[in-house]
Amino acid sequence: MADRDALTPPRCPGPGVAELLAADSRAVPEMYRVDSWQDRGSAPLSAARYTSPEFFAAERERMWPRVWQMAARDEELPEPGDTVVYANLGKSVLLVRQPDLTVKAFWNVCLHRGRLLRTESGPAQELECPFHGFSWGLDGDLKRIPCQWDFPHLTPDRMQLPQVRVEAFAGYLFINWDGKALPLAEYLAPLPAHFARWRIEDCSTGLWVGKVIRANWKAVSEAFMEAWHSVITHPQILPFTGDANTRYSLWGDHVNLALTPFGVLSPHLAEKGLTDAATVEAFAAGSRMRGMAPMQLAPGQTARSGLADKNRADNLTALGYDAAGATDSEVLDAWTYNVFPNLAPWGGYGPTIVYRWRPWPDQDATLMEVRLLFRTPRGQPKPRSVEMRMLGDDEPWATVTEWGALGAVFDQDMANLPYVQQGLVSSPNDRVELGNYQDSRIRHFHATMDKYLAGEL
Ligand code: FES
Ligand SMILES: [Fe+2]
Repeated sequence: MADRDALTPPRCPGPGVAELLAADSRAVPEMYRVDSWQDRGSAPLSAARYTSPEFFAAERERMWPRVWQMAARDEELPEPGDTVVYANLGKSVLLVRQPDLTVKAFWNVCLHRGRLLRTESGPAQELECPFHGFSWGLDGDLKRIPCQWDFPHLTPDRMQLPQVRVEAFAGYLFINWDGKALPLAEYLAPLPAHFARWRIEDCSTGLWVGKVIRANWKAVSEAFMEAWHSVITHPQILPFTGDANTRYSLWGDHVNLALTPFGVLSPHLAEKGLTDAATVEAFAAGSRMRGMAPMQLAPGQTARSGLADKNRADNLTALGYDAAGATDSEVLDAWTYNVFPNLAPWGGYGPTIVYRWRPWPDQDATLMEVRLLFRTPRGQPKPRSVEMRMLGDDEPWATVTEWGALGAVFDQDMANLPYVQQGLVSSPNDRVELGNYQDSRIRHFHATMDKYLAGEL
C-alpha cells in the first residue's frame, strides 16, 4: 500500500480509499483498486471562462457539436414508436424506438420548410410535421407529401430524414453530431469495464427533477466534482462521510471519478471522535436516498460494515439479486463518475444518482437535472421512466419529498451557485484558484475543454 505521506501532492490523513478497499469484507476487483491520478499542476483558471459570451460561443461552435451527449435513458422510450426530443443550444434531435427495438436518432427538423418535427417526447405512429403534414416513417423514410403534385422534385431517396449518431452505454443513450467522433465505448473508457458488474441498464428512472440554476453550466457541474465543500456546505453529513478522504481518479480526456467513502467519520471530526452508533444514526437521518429505518449494530461491528450489510440486504437481496460478491464500497460509497462534458452517472449498486447539465440558454444559467435510478426487482419487467418534474425558481429541491434528506443537500449546493456566478462576474483578478488534488477533476475538465477549443480533439 502506498505510504500516504510520500504522495505528492499530500493527501488528507486517512483512512483513505486504498485502506478502506484493502479492509473491504469482499474481494475488490483490481480495476477499482488502481489509483489513476496524474499531477495537473497548480495553474489558476480565468474567471472569464464562466462569464464571457465569447468563451460561451467558442464552446458552442467547437466543443458541443463534437462530444457525446446523454440524450435519454432507455426506459424513456421502451416501446416501438416511442420518441424522445433532446435539445441543447438550439440543436434538436429526435430519438425513435424502432420495431426491432433498436433506436435511431434524427435531426428533429422537417425537410419541407424547417419546422421542428416534434416538440415533445411521446409515442408516435409516424413522424408527421404539424405544419403542412409532410410525414416520415419511424425509420426516417418519406411516407407522404400532401399536394404531392407540387413537389415532383422531392423524391423519396432525397427526402430521408438525416440521422445523428446514437450509441448506448449502461442504459444511457448518447448522441453525437460529429460523424468522425470516437466510438462511444472508446470515448468512455474505462467506464464500460467499471460498470459491467453494476448492470445499471437494468435500473430505471424512478425520480427525475429539473431546475434552472442562475450560474454557468460549468460552475454548476463543478459543484459536484469535488466532495470537500462538505465541510462548510453540508456539515450534517460529516459524521458519516470521508469527505476529504475522497479518491480522485482521472482517465484519458473524458472520464473521471470521485470515490467518497460513507460510513466513516470525516477527518474534520477525527479529533472530536464519535461512536460508530452515532455515525449510523447520522447516516440514517442524512443519507442520500429515501429515508432509512433505524438500525442497530451488532456488538463489535463497525458503522461501515453494518451499513454495507444493510445496503446489501435492502438494495440487492431484497430485490432478488445475489449480493455475495458486492463489495462494501460498491453498496455504500459515492462513486461519482463524470463523462465530459455534462453528465455524472454514479456507479455502484445503487440506488443510483445521475446529474445532467445544459446551458439554459447561455453562459449565465443552467438546466440541472437529477435522477434516481432504481434497480428493477429480479424477474419483473423494467418500468417505464417517470417524467421530469420541473421545479420553479422559488421551489426548493426539498419540496420533492420522495428523496428524503437528499433534497436539503441539493438546496445547500444550489444556494452557493448564483453567488459563485456573481462573484466570477465581479472578479478583481480574473483568477480562479484550484487545489492540486481535491480540485483536480476541475483541472482535467478544463484541459479537455481547451483541447476541443484548440481543435486537438
Ligand atoms: S414545414 Fe413541415 S410540412 Fe411544411
Ligand atoms: Fe454538495
